[in-house]
Amino acid sequence: MHETLLILDFGSQYTQLIARRVREHQVFSRILPYNAPIEEIRAEKPKAIILSGSPANVYGPKAPIPSAEIFSLGIPILGICYGLQLISYYLGGKVHKSHKREYGLAELSIDQSIDIFYKLPKQMICWMSHGDKLDKMPKGFKRMAHTSNAPIAAIANVEKKIYGVQFHPEVVHTPFGAKLIGNFLFRVCRFKGNWTPSSFVHETIDRIQAQTKGQKVVLGLSGGVDSSVAALLIHRAIGKKLTCIFVDNGLLRLNEAKQIKQTFQGRFKLNLKFVDASELFLKRLRGVKDPERKRKIIGRTFIEVFRKEALKLGDVPFLAQGTLYPDVIESVSVHGGPTSTIKSHHNVGGLPKRMKFKLVEPLRDLFKDEVRAVGRTLGLPAEFIDRHPFPGPGLAVRVLGTIHKPGLEMLRLADAIFIEEIRKAGLYNKIWQAFTVLMPIQSVGVMGDERTYENAVALRAVTSLDGMTADWARIPDTVLARVSNRIINEVRGINRVCYDISSKPPATIEWE
Ligand code: XMP
Repeated sequence: MHETLLILDFGSQYTQLIARRVREHQVFSRILPYNAPIEEIRAEKPKAIILSGSPANVYGPKAPIPSAEIFSLGIPILGICYGLQLISYYLGGKVHKSHKREYGLAELSIDQSIDIFYKLPKQMICWMSHGDKLDKMPKGFKRMAHTSNAPIAAIANVEKKIYGVQFHPEVVHTPFGAKLIGNFLFRVCRFKGNWTPSSFVHETIDRIQAQTKGQKVVLGLSGGVDSSVAALLIHRAIGKKLTCIFVDNGLLRLNEAKQIKQTFQGRFKLNLKFVDASELFLKRLRGVKDPERKRKIIGRTFIEVFRKEALKLGDVPFLAQGTLYPDVIESVSVHGGPTSTIKSHHNVGGLPKRMKFKLVEPLRDLFKDEVRAVGRTLGLPAEFIDRHPFPGPGLAVRVLGTIHKPGLEMLRLADAIFIEEIRKAGLYNKIWQAFTVLMPIQSVGVMGDERTYENAVALRAVTSLDGMTADWARIPDTVLARVSNRIINEVRGINRVCYDISSKPPATIEWE
């Protein structure tokens, strides 16, 4: 079993970054809300704890305060920003509200080049973001570092292995931050650092076998990276006891269904039920223009088709889902009191609620990039691993207005050309998402000596970190020219190509 580092979250915007920085050192980390009961903390068997930052003040009436017993567990603790102030608050130091907020880069001078500062330069740039600061250290602590505005910027009780830093080592603006976290993990806590994609695969296979005990599991395979990796992992664990259902809704991209069959049925020998429900979906979508109605019809029909297929499999107690860690972390709201809300996971079609499945969620401890690393370990081809996101309602939200087969055909061909050219130009992996949209208009053109009156498509390509905000991608005009030229020449029915130069917000990534 892997070793665990626990992160207590006090509502910092950087908490997930701490988790990722720790994991980059091949040490498993888990985030719990600051008010997690001590029994829950103990149950994780943590080898160390990191206390996150917070927008709150330790002396405020609504200060998020953890169980005091974390200081009696006898394991190393690192407090970051608010975490440092909390250590001081508990162990008898003094925090005061600073008149000057310190926000941004600061020059840090190291006083003790040991433990977390081992082999780091004496002077370094770090990222500060705090209003309060430490006046007096608790008994038994010594100063490890200072800045001109924060005379006590890092403290340590070496004997008890309790450390605190006022700055944020988890952000990239603190260039030595990763090394500092590494020092904490390996020099102070003595972690082994053996949590790797392949150790994850081995552990998870054992866990899936123990959970399912020879019973059947069904999984809705979409071909996206999450459901693909989940399928391969569960297949490794239980083989033919896993049935994957792939629903062709008639709204897929060019050759998508074929590629999925070849990869999962052909190459990986998965038990794949391929359901061609395209006629049903297209029939129900006939004449529907409103984007929200389209989505609802597709969602509902997916559940219906999936349910029908799953029932044919007989007694299947388990449903597998590609839920990821960010979907299950309890988000802490410090200003609204100690309430925590759990984000609900929304997958493509929604969980068929009426079917009383137990869930198998092998990826629920992983971030997206970790899922990709596991996928590579399992031999999933690069086309699946690095694939751009594709919305559940598929091309239905990219054929604007009412959906019609000729429109879908044109869109598929145009989109395949766009993606092919982006790949050829080496841009595919630099872009968050690229696709083509069929506009519900016709425009006049001229081809040879003939007047044409045909369809127009828009190319959409954006850069983004998480899909929440996005900027339009600056694709070189030579590439755009080639794409436009090819689409107009090769796709019958299209005589105009536009490039979408709106960012999100105020536009969204998809057009519908
Ligand atoms: P928007 O258009 O809201 O899209 O800027 C943000 C991201 O979400 C994807 N998207 C969806 N994904 N089901 C999905 O699984 C959906 O209904 C859906 N709608 C949008 C979109 O492709 C982009 O990556």
